[in-house]
Amino acid sequence: MAHYSPILCVVGARPNFMKMAAILPALQSGPSPLPVRLIHTGQHYDEAMKASFFRQLQIPEPDVDLEVGSGSHAQQTAQIMQRFEPVIDREKPEAVLVVGDVNSTLACSLVAVKKRIPVIHVEAGLRSFDRSMPEEINRILTDRISDLLFTTERQAKIHLTQEGVVPKRVHFVGNVMIDTLRRILPQAPSSAEVLAREVPHITDFPREPGSYALLTLHRPSNVDDPGVLEKLLMTMRDVSRRVPIIFPVHPRTALRIEQADLGFMLGGGLQRRGPTGRILQLPPLGYVEMLGLMAHARVVLTDSGGIQEETTALGVPCLTLRENTERPITVAEGTNTVVGQDGDRILGELDSILAGKGKAGRVPELWDGQAAQRIARVIKQRFGR
Ligand code: UD1
Repeated sequence: MAHYSPILCVVGARPNFMKMAAILPALQSGPSPLPVRLIHTGQHYDEAMKASFFRQLQIPEPDVDLEVGSGSHAQQTAQIMQRFEPVIDREKPEAVLVVGDVNSTLACSLVAVKKRIPVIHVEAGLRSFDRSMPEEINRILTDRISDLLFTTERQAKIHLTQEGVVPKRVHFVGNVMIDTLRRILPQAPSSAEVLAREVPHITDFPREPGSYALLTLHRPSNVDDPGVLEKLLMTMRDVSRRVPIIFPVHPRTALRIEQADLGFMLGGGLQRRGPTGRILQLPPLGYVEMLGLMAHARVVLTDSGGIQEETTALGVPCLTLRENTERPITVAEGTNTVVGQDGDRILGELDSILAGKGKAGRVPELWDGQAAQRIARVIKQRFGR
């Protein structure tokens, strides 16, 4: 029997999982399925950050787990590279497929390209033009060395061609994260079910659709400087006086809050209510629980990239706690408003949403649940036999 070289599909961190959950079955189905191997770098390793996602999204167990864990950017990137190289040598893949903009994305691309293995980048061409973000560096470099680039919005191709990428390598296919959102949304629990499951001892926190705000925070620019973090948490206390907040806390943020001794602003440890009684902390949630909370929130406050897109797809107002976004279509067409870290600005925009004057928004072009199929078609044409 002829030996077909596989496509190595790489995941590392939480936002990669929902993207790969759509891509893997599309590559492996249809009249000409491709052999694939799933490689997990181990960048995210906690049960809450990894295993529950694999289960809920029905992602198969990785064929290889590089188990790199946490570290500085240099350490993490270098470890992934060192441990990925022998996998390439062993598997002799046809191509390496990476998604998004995390350290695992860049590290594996770099190993592949130097071994003359074509790199496929899904979610190419997004730019915040803010080089202080580690993800921006990962995006620019990964795109520069990719062979096949799949984009979620039309503007991305303009960025890529301006940077010298050959236009015929770029394919506008839509958003694989929204493929997964559409598939899983019917299974998402209600907000009442999520709270009953996560914090059964707290029964009087608002949970009806439209009665709470959902908050996520994890960007280094928001959580690493104790002064910035304290100001943001003060603003969140003001927000919570207008609308109660449900706050699933990323491990990085939990660590920073503890290190800066700011737990008192949220009422102590996890799963406690804050001093105003209106901020409910939760541990990091699984994908379906997060989707359930997001779909029924009055407003979402976040510094995540993916959540800006998910709220746009769901039609839920989103305030992005950053100075910029690499996903401008969520602002131009969706429900997203970039508000930065300034308390007055955040509260002003919040008030207009609560007064019913938020943006209506529409779902961007090709965010229709079929992006992975389009990607698979192009890859099969190029690498299929
Ligand atoms: C990473 C991505 C970011 C993405 C985010 C989603 C990079 C540069 N950043 O950031 O783009 O939005 O994932 O979550 O790749 N930790 C745990 N358990 C885990 C993973 C992390 O406790 O399973 C803690 C550790 O203290 C670790 C810290 O979180 O040092 C940061 O983890 P890391 O993977 O370096 O980056 P994220 O902040 O999660």
